[in-house]
Amino acid sequence: MERQAQPRVLLGVGGGIAAYKSCELVRRLRDAGCEVRVVMTRGGAAFVTPLSFQALSGQPVRVDLLDAEAESGMDHIALARWADRVVIAPATADLIARLAAGLADDLLTTLCLATEAPILLAPAMNRVMWEHPATQANHRLLEQRGVRMVGPESGGQACGETGAGRMAEPRSILHALLGSASGPLTGQRVLITAGPTQEPIDPVRFIGNRSSGRMGVALAAAARDAGAEVRLVHGPLGVPLPAGVQAVAADTAEAMHAAVLEHLEGVDLFIGAAAVADYRPRAPADQKLKKDAPGMTVELVRTPDILADVAARRPRPFVVGFAAETTRLRENARAKMERKGVDMIAANDVSAGRAIGRQENSLVVLWPGGERLFPEQPKGDLAHALIALIAARMAGDAEADTN
Ligand code: CTP
Repeated sequence: MERQAQPRVLLGVGGGIAAYKSCELVRRLRDAGCEVRVVMTRGGAAFVTPLSFQALSGQPVRVDLLDAEAESGMDHIALARWADRVVIAPATADLIARLAAGLADDLLTTLCLATEAPILLAPAMNRVMWEHPATQANHRLLEQRGVRMVGPESGGQACGETGAGRMAEPRSILHALLGSASGPLTGQRVLITAGPTQEPIDPVRFIGNRSSGRMGVALAAAARDAGAEVRLVHGPLGVPLPAGVQAVAADTAEAMHAAVLEHLEGVDLFIGAAAVADYRPRAPADQKLKKDAPGMTVELVRTPDILADVAARRPRPFVVGFAAETTRLRENARAKMERKGVDMIAANDVSAGRAIGRQENSLVVLWPGGERLFPEQPKGDLAHALIALIAARMAGDAEADTN
């Protein structure tokens, strides 16, 4: 199949600590077949040397507008015309303000005025700077002018604070820039369950578990980045919902079961990552239970097994389940895969507080006739690796069997 030519990308690097992540963005853009030229602000060049970007892009890096030697090569107007896309990562509060004001006081802002290519910004700054009305107004103004934004994301920041302001990950920027046409799940519909369920005992109490939903949410973002149309059926989450994903809230096993079946039509891939309660109280009390008696017994009944029900359907999507095990990880997970009739199972060692509720995890992924071990790593990275493996298995890629 002939590959479509990838766009020529002009990457602007502003002065923020996230500039180091843009090195990886250059590598990923080049892996995707893009020609990349880098322009840095003075601040950007204070964080990462132009030489690093020159080595990664294979092209000279420019910082100054009034650089006679560089201008005699490709001048700034030619550079602005050369670009099919412009991406600025990190886009600092100052850079966003200068772009909103239409300033042309350095090479990067001049190029943004001189180009007709679409512009994408990946903002990165301290949370208070991001929330400042001036930054928000500049941001809105740029969006009204057709500038697109990716991120910022929420989480821990280099300055020690937690909140919105972290630059989007390079893979998310790549996806926002090149669109879904580049991913292994392009055009596929993916349905994912995530998070715990809460099974009511009375109006204020429930039976729940320690799941935060982080893995399922990371899988939804990874599937989105791989080009899929993603729906996430989720219980009460301890992490923010990812952008660009259709979310359906379902707090109990039965509600999650109903939501999954309602949205199953046309789905190509189902991933059951939720920690669904296996039992629920038979008859939740209508009123808050009083502590009249010295003890009490709550009678439990089985909940529907969502994963097994999806796997039993015909026709059915490619089905991937999780197995939370404390002993005999591989044997129990393989038995679970066969019993539930799923195509692939990702086994988690949940003994002694591992995996559940944590940021990092390791997985053993099993399928009929093969397996792969993913060592301990952040759940975001793990999710992207798992989605790549699933996509390869769905495509019947023999190489995925042998690794
Ligand atoms: N699962 C589900 N619906 C349920 C229970 C579990 O869809 N009612 C899914 C989970 O999302 C996960 C997989 O089944 O993908 C395995 O869940 P786990 O709790 O590890 O296994 P169980 O099937 O509950 O088996 P057991 O508790 O006996 O280990």
